[in-house]
Amino acid sequence: MTTDRSCLCVVLAAGEGTRMKSALPKVLHTIGGLPMVGHVINAAREVGSEIAMVTGSGGEKVDAAVAKLMPDARFFRQQDRLGTGHAVLTARTAIEDGYDDVLVVFGDTPLVDPGVLRSARSGLAAGADVVVVGFRTDEPTGYGRLIETGGRLAAIREERDCSDEEKLISYCNGGLMAISGELALSLLDRIGNDNAKHEYYLTDIVEIANDDGLVVVAVEAPFESVLGINNRAELAAAEAIWQQRRRRGVMLSGVTLIAPETVYFSHDTDIGADTVVEPNVVFGPNVRIAGGATIRAFSHITGATIAEGAEIGPFARLRPGAKLGEASKVGNFCEVKNADIASGAKINHLSYVGDAVVGARANLGAGTITCNYDGFSKHLTQIGSGAFIGSNTSLVAPVKIGNDAYVASGTVVTSNVPDDALAIGRSRQENKEGRAEMLRRRLAAHKSGKK
Ligand code: UD1
Ligand code: MG
Repeated sequence: MTTDRSCLCVVLAAGEGTRMKSALPKVLHTIGGLPMVGHVINAAREVGSEIAMVTGSGGEKVDAAVAKLMPDARFFRQQDRLGTGHAVLTARTAIEDGYDDVLVVFGDTPLVDPGVLRSARSGLAAGADVVVVGFRTDEPTGYGRLIETGGRLAAIREERDCSDEEKLISYCNGGLMAISGELALSLLDRIGNDNAKHEYYLTDIVEIANDDGLVVVAVEAPFESVLGINNRAELAAAEAIWQQRRRRGVMLSGVTLIAPETVYFSHDTDIGADTVVEPNVVFGPNVRIAGGATIRAFSHITGATIAEGAEIGPFARLRPGAKLGEASKVGNFCEVKNADIASGAKINHLSYVGDAVVGARANLGAGTITCNYDGFSKHLTQIGSGAFIGSNTSLVAPVKIGNDAYVASGTVVTSNVPDDALAIGRSRQENKEGRAEMLRRRLAAHKSGKK
């Protein structure tokens, strides 16, 4: 087992990522709402590894994002981009601390699977000194080729340095590597730059280790797990693979997705069993849903907490701070933000409820609007339990509606309503007998006079 062995994961992210054509560093582009490098770090953390981050010029943004995800990560700056071997050595002081295993991964391979890292580490635990993660492809152009002899890995040859015969090899270097921590620095320090690009290739440690009579092996991984992202088309392709994996995981955990390919998850979406998600639903970050909820079609949910049996949508928008109690309902064309909706409360049609507390079983009629913002500050609306808010009501916050109070349709509520009171704030209706007929005649005459 690898678990009782200590491990340092060196994450390389000093590349410039020019093909992303972006002001944002490449590894901060997201998959499932989490920066690519976050996925890599999570995988490393899952196999019990500490992190050494290697970034290049302008790496401050990357460091800040990584520090949020992993406060005890250590950071190293590679000033000159002299190759992957050189990049690993910028983390020398971390490696010197002495780990059993040193993993090297790339920050731009977001689909890296903890299982692959585990199998690389298992290789070391089983006695290998260097373990390289390889993959097979029909299109090996651009990748380093794995040159094997008798079950051992003899060398990795970069494309530019390959002979024509070597170029035919379809077993390629995925970039991930596990190195015995005890030997790592002595191997890395002997890497030279006598190659087509005059770079210090990490991959050269394979030959160096073999010359020392050490054990070097390759383990095979699925192509996705080492898929490197260089441009936005590849980013979208990786997102698609990630979403597909997540949908499957969610379904296997007991959630029904009627049209899984149309539902988009965030990396941290948490949904309980027996929830049903209809087609075309988007989950933004930080959503927690207990079991047995129903999310109807075309809903967009971010930063919301949803209790057992709640019903959302179709066409609902839940924004950060929306908290829905048990069996509550937020229906079509409703937006809820920073609002605590207690159990059994209903906001069924065409409403905006923001900065509010809604009591149990309260019923908000169609077109109920909390006027929460005065152009300077946000204010709270409190609605008591069992209150009934008639359609087309504006609740001008700060305002409080008592328990079991009743607000007549069309009211603009500007002052508090006591418990059990009825509030009506609209002009009284007047009926003028026969005046419709008179009006019609006058309008008709006016129109024909114009012709
Ligand atoms: C590398 C491997 C190649 C493998 C391929 C898999 C080497 C020499 N080659 O090639 O065998 O098939 O990945 O995708 O390792 N980086 C730095 N500092 C540097 C250079 C690179 O931090 O000085 C980082 C990059 O940001 C990137 C990673 O290392 O995350 C790989 O660098 P890249 O230039 O993409 O290497 P490849 O040529 O693709
Ligand atoms: Mg690359």
